[in-house]
Amino acid sequence: QQKTPSREDKLLQICALLRNSIAYYDWVGFYFRNGKKQELLLGPYAGEPTDHTVIPFGKGICGQVAVSNKNFVVPDVRAQDNYIACSFTVKSEIVVPLFVNGENIGQIDIDSNVLNPFTELDERFLEFVNQEIAQLFQNNPNF
Ligand code: SME
Repeated sequence: QQKTPSREDKLLQICALLRNSIAYYDWVGFYFRNGKKQELLLGPYAGEPTDHTVIPFGKGICGQVAVSNKNFVVPDVRAQDNYIACSFTVKSEIVVPLFVNGENIGQIDIDSNVLNPFTELDERFLEFVNQEIAQLFQNNPNF
């Protein structure tokens, strides 16, 4: 008998699917707000392991999105001062917040080894992905 996949399992599968399907998605992961604390915790991801498992609100691209509630597209990470480098191969990044019942509970974070690959299509697509994922949290507010 097969075990029902947990939300963690599903998120991990989504990360792997996105990374394997889109050539310039080199690292795909989720960060989630740590309860009521002003910090993000690394969730499921696909790609190289990262040291940045805890990110304070306001720090780096991810921490800024936790505060702004807005998409952040970085065509060239070298042009950002408030940036946390995870790997020397990363050239660009996109972060899209994940809203559940209007509340920013985390984000999807994608790193690319390609310069300036992200378009508005990525933003719309990742917003859609996050809307679908929000349903995994709707009836289960344990995050
Ligand atoms: N670059 C991110 C940190 C997370 S790693 O990309 C996985 C940032 O500046 O917030």
